[in-house]
Amino acid sequence: MQELKKNLLFSEKEIRERVKELAKEISEHYKDDKPVVCVCVLRGAVMFFTDLMKEVKSDAVVYDFVTLSSYENAMVEGTMSTTGKIKLIQDLRENVEGKHVLVVEDIVDSGYTVDYLRRYFSSKNALDVHIACLLDKPMSRKVDAHADYVAFTLERPAFIVGYGLDYDQKYRNLNGIYEVVND
Ligand code: PRP
Repeated sequence: MQELKKNLLFSEKEIRERVKELAKEISEHYKDDKPVVCVCVLRGAVMFFTDLMKEVKSDAVVYDFVTLSSYENAMVEGTMSTTGKIKLIQDLRENVEGKHVLVVEDIVDSGYTVDYLRRYFSSKNALDVHIACLLDKPMSRKVDAHADYVAFTLERPAFIVGYGLDYDQKYRNLNGIYEVVND
């Protein structure tokens, strides 16, 4: 297998430190003892979710998971280019009514996914919905969406792998965050 050319953007240590900072902010935000349903968006957010949750100091936290897909996807060199039509493949097991929801995402790109999830959990009468993301790419937005807690912001186009993010389902297991380099 040909080795993927990539440059390290954020090291394991940088990620660990940033995750701790975000977790502190999040822990300080939720003070009212109402349950906080922390939602991992499978599959890309798994590493970020796990590390973040270990650092959030609150007994009000519960975990749950969703799987989404964007239908009418276009395959571009093994990666999905979303058209914005999001479909819920696997829903939460938790009822979010009257509870805080914290959606944990790996990346906010076009914004379709987090926009969908905010609307979805609001329609289920969540007390409020906040978004934590590992990487924010504001220049890629196609809808007016934002994350409330952002570990890193990328201000230029880049294809990212590692720490949960994939290229054709591979490289999710890298401990750092890398930019794929074209020949
Ligand atoms: C990726 C990523 C986010 C979403 C962000 O998911 O994990 O969930 O796209 O893109 P958007 O802001 O343009 O909506 P993907 O469908 O690639 O699945 P994965 O998490 O399993 O890699």
